[in-house]
Amino acid sequence: MLQAFGDLMLILDEDGMILEHKAGNLPHHLAGQPATFQHGNIQDLLPVEAGWKITEGIRRLRENKKAVQVEYSLPTPSGKAWYESRLIPAQNKQVIVIIREVTKYKHSEEKIQTQLEQLDALRAIDHFITSGADLSQTLAGILDHVRKYLSIDAASVLLLNPYTRCLEFAAGTGFKTSAMQHTRLNVGEGLAGQAVLEHRIVHVPDLKNRKTGLLRSPDFIRENFVAYFAIPLIAKGQVLGVLEIFHRLSFSTDRNWMNFLNTLAGQAAIAIDSAMMFKDLQRSNSELMLAYDKTIDGWSRALDLRDKETEDHTRRVTELTLRLARRMNIPETELIHIRRGSTLHDIGKVAIPDQILFKPGPLTKQEWLIMRRHPLIAAEILKPISYLASALPIPRFHHEKWDGSGYPEGLTGESIPLPARIFAFADVYDAVTSDRPYRPAWKQSETLDYIAKNSGIHFDPEIVPVFIRMMLE
Ligand code: C2E
Ligand code: SIN
Ligand code: SIN
Ligand code: FE
Ligand code: FE
Repeated sequence: MLQAFGDLMLILDEDGMILEHKAGNLPHHLAGQPATFQHGNIQDLLPVEAGWKITEGIRRLRENKKAVQVEYSLPTPSGKAWYESRLIPAQNKQVIVIIREVTKYKHSEEKIQTQLEQLDALRAIDHFITSGADLSQTLAGILDHVRKYLSIDAASVLLLNPYTRCLEFAAGTGFKTSAMQHTRLNVGEGLAGQAVLEHRIVHVPDLKNRKTGLLRSPDFIRENFVAYFAIPLIAKGQVLGVLEIFHRLSFSTDRNWMNFLNTLAGQAAIAIDSAMMFKDLQRSNSELMLAYDKTIDGWSRALDLRDKETEDHTRRVTELTLRLARRMNIPETELIHIRRGSTLHDIGKVAIPDQILFKPGPLTKQEWLIMRRHPLIAAEILKPISYLASALPIPRFHHEKWDGSGYPEGLTGESIPLPARIFAFADVYDAVTSDRPYRPAWKQSETLDYIAKNSGIHFDPEIVPVFIRMMLE
């Protein structure tokens, strides 16, 4: 039976002395021929570590009286071989040891382990595709994983600049010098450029044998790299750049490793592509925002031009409002809405007829009724524009007064939205210090007196001192 399975069976005494053996065919397992190891000690017949593991197994067996299993490797002429020994208690404190070669199983176990790790690496890179991480986070993450899972010293990504058609350094890990950061190669130039031009992996087992000067920086020599790989990063048929891998010792690869490298580079390219798309999207989004803001600037400019006397009123009022809002520590994220609201505050006046708007004297009761509709007209005009929703309180409530005597709603105190309360200072200040068809401009001192007198009547009494101090400064 032993011969059929190729196992080796030993009977040991409690000190590890070999009393008897039945050999299957386990060559190279014990030193010497079977005849020589009869009555030798297992400890002396095996290399130190394996012998120690069996001796330790015998000790555990004596303690627990239960079968023990130990595993160890031995060098053989055809490479490392793995063995599994099972120790079973027998009569008279003797121990039966059955030794079996498990190299084949061990190798498939290692292969599965490697494949699991590779899956892990791919999953980690997939994560960047779905997480919406930005480009620099994505590149840094990919390089960390590449370095860890491929067990290499350093790696970098060069991205292809679509305008200059140059490969430019975008991220790196594991470098001792800043040599790589200056990398700028044309397609076809250098090893990386060659990988991109030919759409294939370029592998140099020993950089030191190359005569061409590195097209990087003199510092590159100090990195002492030996092995080099350049893998083009291709997504949707487009070359995005190149992944470079550096190792300071020579590096042996097999087909499995190269396959993994290819898959990893493919995933990395998809992650980079999606991060770049995200960046483009963000850019066109902010370009769109800029276009919107230019549009509302245009509307308010049209209004100012119609009302020649108040030309530039909107710009001045907006600046003054933002200054006051900053003094009051309104969060930066709110300021953009306050800016838009101020710019559009009197947009409702487009619906006020010329003979009322430009009347060089006091308004009749009837005319007032029309004039007082301008905040509600503004709300009507702006309501359908969702991105202006947060800007609406100023156009709608800028003529409300603290004591409730304002319009259109007659709101009092803090029920008037804060942006509108802040804005009222700038609006009144700028209106009364400007000439109007119905009266000449007031002086600053008169104006500040007027605002102080109307604290708690027209104006929020807590903001009055802040505004007056700001204007006096
Ligand atoms: P506006 O000229 O931009 O004035 C904005 C606000 O500043 C006014 O809101 C008012 O609170 C304050 N203000 C402006 N001028 C004076 C002033 O001479 N005295 C005082 N005490 N406060 C002043 P209000 O009163 O709700 O007026 C809204 C808009 O109605 C004004 O915008 C202006 O376009 C128009 N308006 C107001 N009064 C008259 C007027 O007597 N004649 C004419 N033609 N238009 C007027
Ligand atoms: C490189 O910078 O890619 C290496 C240049 C070369 O050795 O051809
Ligand atoms: C502005 O664009 O000036 C308002 C928002 C800000 O201050 O950032
Ligand atoms: Fe107004
Ligand atoms: Fe105004």
